Amino acid sequence: MTTTGFAAIPRVSRAAGRVRVPGDKSISHRYAMLAAIAEGRSRLTGYAPGADCAATLACLESLGVRISRLREGPGEPASIVIDGRGPLGLLAPAAPLDAANSGTSMRLFAGLLAPHPFTSVIGGDASLSRRPMRRVIEPLTRMGVAIDSLDGRPPLTIHGGPLRAITHQPEVPSAQVKSAVLLAGLHADGRTTVKEPTPTRDHTERALEAFGGKVIRDGDTVSVDGGQRLQAITADVPGDISSALFWLALAAGTPGSDLTIEGVGLNPSRTAVFEVLRRAGAKLDLPDGGRAIAGEPSGAIRVQFDRPRSFEITPAEVPLMIDEIPGLAALAAMQPDVTMTVRGAKELRVKESDRISMLARGFGRLGIRVDEYEDGFTIHGGPPAGGEADAAGDHRLAMAFAIAGSRATAPVHITGADAVAVSYPGFFDELGRIARG
Ligand code: S3P
Repeated sequence: MTTTGFAAIPRVSRAAGRVRVPGDKSISHRYAMLAAIAEGRSRLTGYAPGADCAATLACLESLGVRISRLREGPGEPASIVIDGRGPLGLLAPAAPLDAANSGTSMRLFAGLLAPHPFTSVIGGDASLSRRPMRRVIEPLTRMGVAIDSLDGRPPLTIHGGPLRAITHQPEVPSAQVKSAVLLAGLHADGRTTVKEPTPTRDHTERALEAFGGKVIRDGDTVSVDGGQRLQAITADVPGDISSALFWLALAAGTPGSDLTIEGVGLNPSRTAVFEVLRRAGAKLDLPDGGRAIAGEPSGAIRVQFDRPRSFEITPAEVPLMIDEIPGLAALAAMQPDVTMTVRGAKELRVKESDRISMLARGFGRLGIRVDEYEDGFTIHGGPPAGGEADAAGDHRLAMAFAIAGSRATAPVHITGADAVAVSYPGFFDELGRIARG
């Protein structure tokens, strides 16, 4: 096995014991950005170690923010110290900002930079350069900022300045769009409101409150008033439930498994996937009931193999588990006589890759039948035969193919496996450890 581009997947015969996953990516981005515009010194432990959240830190440093990275010892979670520059305190960058593979960085920075009185450019890698940005350009333009793009795609050139408060209802449910508008709204001339008929993850709202901001939640709307001052925090970032999901799926699909993931974020806007795992026949418990730090609940999740069943993800469920769909597909792919169907998930086509066609192609290469629809797919369970699947530069596809591949009947190889470093640099080491029992 290797953690470079080509990975030979070890066979897992049972997943047992205890696992820890890296810090939550969504929460890490938000804490870092808010710490940068807060007053005082923030200390964050368990900050997500992947390339996406490193890109956010690098962009902040280019905007004049002082950041120190501390590591207690090998295997310890990294902790970082960020000196806040206060409201509108970011400095004009000397060169274009690089969001690398991170859509969250680019969309949230668009909102964070919009009220700053300077011009900045933010770009990314080939995958990010294909992703749609009109969804943030349109509301931010209505707030009064001019943003140039390549026909709605990166790079974005943001001509920041004074902002008007707006009410915005995103066309597609998106926590990133909601967050961009709310971050800009912190400096607009009144109350900025986002209306979300379909809820999305609420980490921005919780993070704003943790930093002493005021957020008004009323039914399906969330609002912030302009002119708020945020205060530094000391906080621990919980484990990423989207990373944990790959181990939950592996244990749910592997006879005899009994696995506990410790210290995972249990924010209710991220845990809808537990219901789907139960429907898919897994036994799931939250043994310690959870605790909350900086408004984000966390705790252990125990998963036991029980009775795998066919399952569906409904269109209404999709926004609350959009990042978990590749891992759930891996669960279905491991099981004989099981199908998984997801519809209403067209958004998957504009993630780090076109996750519908690339998932169908990769599982197809492992001998799994996938029916592809414009807005979803049906997986016909395996287990996978051997073969070689290409991660298509997408970290979650690399992990989904590896999880399903660890239950294959013949050797599986994954090309482009190094993509896991975007969210989970130690993924293959953990898989090797679980495989060794
Ligand atoms: C994220 C929101 C989701 C998700 C992404 C992280 C966030 O995107 O897919 O990985 O941190 O806000 P959308 O809100 O655009 O669906």
